[in-house]
Amino acid sequence: MDLYSMRDMRQGMLKLDTAGTGQRVDATVVLLGGTGDLATRRVAPALWKLWLGGQLGRRFRLVGMARRELDDQGYRALLDAAIRASLPAGMPGDPARDGFLDRVSYLRGDVSDPAPYAALARLLADPSENALFYLACTPDRFGDAASRIAEAGLAGTNSGTAGWRRLAVEKPFGTDLPSARALNQLLHERYDEDDILRVDHYLGKEAVQNILYFRFYNAIFEPLWNRKHIERVEISATETGGIGDRGGYYDDSGAARDMLQNHLMQLFCLVAMEPPGDFSPEAVRDAKVRLLRSVPHAGPLEAPLDCVRGQYAQGTDGPAYLDEQRVRPGSTTETFVAARLTVDNWRWKGVPFILKTGKALAERACHIVVHFRKDDDTASEANRLLLSIQPDQRVVLTINAKTSGGDSSEREELVGALRDTAGAYPDAYERILGDALRGYSQLFIRFDEAEEAWRLVQPFLEYWKRHPSSGLALYPAGGNGPDLGALYRPDAGQDKAARGA
Ligand code: BG6
Repeated sequence: MDLYSMRDMRQGMLKLDTAGTGQRVDATVVLLGGTGDLATRRVAPALWKLWLGGQLGRRFRLVGMARRELDDQGYRALLDAAIRASLPAGMPGDPARDGFLDRVSYLRGDVSDPAPYAALARLLADPSENALFYLACTPDRFGDAASRIAEAGLAGTNSGTAGWRRLAVEKPFGTDLPSARALNQLLHERYDEDDILRVDHYLGKEAVQNILYFRFYNAIFEPLWNRKHIERVEISATETGGIGDRGGYYDDSGAARDMLQNHLMQLFCLVAMEPPGDFSPEAVRDAKVRLLRSVPHAGPLEAPLDCVRGQYAQGTDGPAYLDEQRVRPGSTTETFVAARLTVDNWRWKGVPFILKTGKALAERACHIVVHFRKDDDTASEANRLLLSIQPDQRVVLTINAKTSGGDSSEREELVGALRDTAGAYPDAYERILGDALRGYSQLFIRFDEAEEAWRLVQPFLEYWKRHPSSGLALYPAGGNGPDLGALYRPDAGQDKAARGA
């Protein structure tokens, strides 16, 4: 594709802008797992903001389904508290007064059990009604919930409703490659792929979407975006604080399933994929899948060399992982993981991509650092490009400049702040839900993306299963995490290939 005639691409890109606005959407949102952390802390506040922003129509309703003994009033009180707690300090908001809570109701039941779906069918008796079924339950229930919804004729290929019916599935999508494939198969037997929205909320972040704008709206960078000029790329999402009360979920998951397979892999795709033919959802997802397929997965011998894992011990930031609630005694679940990927294509051959994520670290930050190659003929330092996603949203290019009044050079930063971060743009879940309700699929994961990402993580999972405690580095909570020196090993052959020699 000719990068310099980007009309089609621009037209496609504009879709990203229009998704967040437009006419009001009338739909019922059914939150399965409606009392959980995700539903109350992320989804409900995002829906409330859409409501406040006038994006939801008069027929909007929110139905929470969960096992907890609650009535409508109790559920409204739960969401009210959660929404208020989600507001940045000092920001006013009253979901009771603005009419949002009047639209909320509760259905008590187990999402795996057919009974609550019969009650739900009575609520959704009008076939012209639009509905989004949001699976915010624990991942082991996704298959059951999706099946019960389809069996009750509420959604799916056989439902025959006039209104649209969509299924949003939160990550982790499966727990490994075989289970992801099985879940995809189960969903495809009951739903059209177009009606399945696999959610990765990182794609809803403005600064993540900006990666595409940065790469494809700044033609000056494209000639540099390859192995000849880039030495390595680091993609990092670190968090402060331990797992809190999420031990029940996290101990079965760990950092690789919780963050690496999804959020970090998506960032990797956006940074490294080839330019798509256009910016239609399918073309972008095709480009991501092509990239993932170009990554050789680690063999049994490389697996331990290409990843580092760790678990937090007691430190300045809190107790040890093993002392957290609902963590199994002696658990070897990783709370930190870093992996080295390479891409077998012309652009990237020999360039390591280091993906890193962890809990209870010194800093909460998510960024991508592109390290350009050093010019061997001068004493200058290598240039570096930082794409910062959080806490601030910036692009920083580090250059060398003359020291004022001197004869040497010093490092300077060219900073482009994306936007004020004080809530002036939609948060990730607001964007994701807005798009789900409007049927824009660009920010959702296609089944093959999920499977290809699992293919890359699978060798690590298998290695750890065979060697549960091997290489599990303990790091103090609040520190910098395990040493990653092994991932930065020089590889003469690869470096040579990278320079195109
Ligand atoms: C979630 C993970 O998907 O992302 C959490 O399950 C993690 O463990 C969270 O804390 C991080 O999201 P954000 O938007 O706060 O960076």
